[in-house]
Amino acid sequence: MNPTTESLIDSLCHKPHISVLFVCLGNICRSPAAEGMMQSVTDECGDSARWTIDSAGTGNYHIGELPDARMRAHARRRGLELTHRCRQVTEDDFDRFDIIIAMDRSNEQNLRRLAPTVEAERKIVAMSEFFDGIASRYDYVPDPYYEGAEGFELVLDLLATATRNLHSALTR
Ligand code: 4NP
Repeated sequence: MNPTTESLIDSLCHKPHISVLFVCLGNICRSPAAEGMMQSVTDECGDSARWTIDSAGTGNYHIGELPDARMRAHARRRGLELTHRCRQVTEDDFDRFDIIIAMDRSNEQNLRRLAPTVEAERKIVAMSEFFDGIASRYDYVPDPYYEGAEGFELVLDLLATATRNLHSALTR
């Protein structure tokens, strides 16, 4: 974890309630899957009441849609039912959420452009900050949209690691 992320995590880990927003480009593949995985981690740990978990996209191509059918099918095989409706990230999200997690570098740059203040920008972190083990071979969550089944499985593997590590980092 870089020092900026470390200090954001330190400032949040003792809060009674934490709100997390996952962000990708389309909000139909990676970020709704991250939202579903994080929800499932908190359910398993029995502390879901402590969390507000949501996702959004920097783009506006799929607003109102369910997640991509391929992502829903792959997630379902892991016991996750993805029911999020696609929405675009807004400036207000920087007020509503404690931490805003970008799936890749382009999502992160778009979020930095949208951040209304320096304090708001400090809430942005890369999902890869929470990678370890085999996931550390990647420095972002790759866009599966134009990929085959392996692309979707890889995303879910990376998100499984990152959401577990995010949860434990914020539950110290
Ligand atoms: P996501 O994947 O950012 O993980 O939701 C994408 C979904 C749709 C598009 C691009 C990426 N698109 O160009 O429509």
